[in-house]
Amino acid sequence: MALSLTVNGEQWSLDIEGDTPLLWVLRDELGLKGTKFGCGVGLCGACTVHLNGQPVRSCSTPVEMAVGGEVTTIEGLAEEGQLHALQKAWIAEGVPQCGYCQSGQIMSAAHLLATNSAPARNDIVAAMTGNLCRCGTYSRIIAAVESVAG
Ligand code: FES
Repeated sequence: MALSLTVNGEQWSLDIEGDTPLLWVLRDELGLKGTKFGCGVGLCGACTVHLNGQPVRSCSTPVEMAVGGEVTTIEGLAEEGQLHALQKAWIAEGVPQCGYCQSGQIMSAAHLLATNSAPARNDIVAAMTGNLCRCGTYSRIIAAVESVAG
């Protein structure tokens, strides 16, 4: 079945089953490898992308739910060749350790700042709770988000 998708502003028509997880469409069909597979059951946040501006777990989101919507991945966060402020902050704070979960972390943080430009520390902690990091970079993640927050 041909499905039409918009990913990072680009339109795609893909011959794919509607119940295919969005994660695998992004990675295997579109070659967008920044979105990671962690747990595969919606628990770790490594696969977080935005669908119509909302963070979703792409491992447990059937691609048919994205038809007619706008998907943004970590590759689409930078605009006009400029890294997103959060990406710059991640570099400045030296957030990543192994790095595996970080694109999901940044996508969750980007949604937080899009909805609340001046979050309190508690807001940041609450917003990031669903994104797990086995390396324990949480304090640097919070520092990076705080450095961008107005
Ligand atoms: Fe999707 Fe863990 S891989 S939430």
